[in-house]
Amino acid sequence: MSATAQAPASLPVAAPRRGSLPPGPGGPALWQFLQMAERPLEKLLGWHARYGDCFTVSWPVFGTGVYVADPQAIRALHTGDQSDLRAGEANAPLGMMLGERSVLVLDGPEHLRQRRLLLPPFQGSAVGAFRAVIRDVAEREVARWRPGDRLVLRERMRELTFEVIARACFGVEQSVRIEQLRRALTAVIDCQYMGLLPRPMQRDLGRLSPWGAFQARLRAADDMLFEEIARRRDAPDLDERTDVLSLLLRARDEDGEPMTDRELRDELVTMLVAGHETTSTALAFAFDLLYRHPAVLARLRDELTGDDDRYLDAVVTETLRLRPIIDANQRKLTQPRVVAGWELPAGTTVLPSIAVVQRREDLYPRAGAFRPERFLDGKTESYAWLPFGGGIRRCIGAALAQAEMAEAIRTIVERTELRPLRPRPDPVVMRGITLIPRHGVAVEVARAA
Ligand code: HEM
Repeated sequence: MSATAQAPASLPVAAPRRGSLPPGPGGPALWQFLQMAERPLEKLLGWHARYGDCFTVSWPVFGTGVYVADPQAIRALHTGDQSDLRAGEANAPLGMMLGERSVLVLDGPEHLRQRRLLLPPFQGSAVGAFRAVIRDVAEREVARWRPGDRLVLRERMRELTFEVIARACFGVEQSVRIEQLRRALTAVIDCQYMGLLPRPMQRDLGRLSPWGAFQARLRAADDMLFEEIARRRDAPDLDERTDVLSLLLRARDEDGEPMTDRELRDELVTMLVAGHETTSTALAFAFDLLYRHPAVLARLRDELTGDDDRYLDAVVTETLRLRPIIDANQRKLTQPRVVAGWELPAGTTVLPSIAVVQRREDLYPRAGAFRPERFLDGKTESYAWLPFGGGIRRCIGAALAQAEMAEAIRTIVERTELRPLRPRPDPVVMRGITLIPRHGVAVEVARAA
């Protein structure tokens, strides 16, 4: 963060304020929620300006949460003893899709066990070896584009990133099956709003009922996944394979136990779902920013002719700062805890505010501007740049996502010329738990190699 000022000093030590939650916006919870859905960044930055580094919001269904935008308080939340901070419990609504054994919804020793099994294939060296596959997928995508084509980039990137994560999970040779699985899982993801249904409506009353239709889609995807797990378990080359499923099938925990089929299914769905929607949205934002900043785009093109990727990587880092995909990670307190000078009661959901911290002027001068050069030294501070969350829950796919973004941007910028179809940048809106460009970033292909 070369152009970045020092992080502000930690809050003065004072007796914690007890007995009340930090201030925050009033009014009906539903109204607040709707405003947040339509203008999330403006609302969060506005509340921060008005109420300070800690503010309380209440949403229907999700309940009350306390946003924290003080980097030192976030550092404290992400380091040291975290046994009273339950991310899995806070993520519980995702369990209906990801399954109860998903690393995202587990806590404590069970979470750590699953996380240790999952980490190796997503570490830097493994991802480095996978870059050629990412480039191949991106090149085949771009080869289909013709001058005059109109594309919604988020949709195109969704297919690209699904193919990448599916190839990472299952291996590189199964195009037809990957496409079938993509369709089945996309149908499930499109039902993510089911978690918002009131409990009494979460009942399977046949395919015509919303919950019943969701369950049918889930079963269709699960059948394919269990079939794939069974086929792979019997594969004669299982011991030589390097895809995630094969590694997980061979993995043993500290007691020498393999993962069950249910655990394998839940982790595969987690990787496939968490791994492609987020990355495709980040890519769509990257292009919206690049094509509206001609000087940045020109410099990127220029730098790509050499073999130094620093500017390309800085474009990725700056995109994730200015356009975070998740506005805040979440932790539920199991006991009272002092956070940024407030003693918050057990049961409170604490939300380290990724979106607000990354827009602090004291950390990022001209924070609202798209300036990749601020990251040219390649450094980021883990409590000030946190698009992937932090601590023992930091995103497992961070290295893969950044490699995907870099390789897709490289391929598309080198081989094509795109023109935005809308006069202004796509507004950022909140859908489900992610921030997305409202129109998906529509472009026209002006040149395609
Ligand atoms: C630009 C793309 C991505 C963004 C912005 C993103 C963001 C995040 C965030 C904010 C968290 C929560 C961290 C916390 O609670 O502190 C998370 C967790 C996670 N992400 Fe990602 N993610 C991305 C891509 C991926 C990819 C490609 C994968 C595939 C492997 C992935 C798999 C996961 C998993 C498994 C977790 C749960 C980790 C745990 O609970 O231990 N993500 N991600």
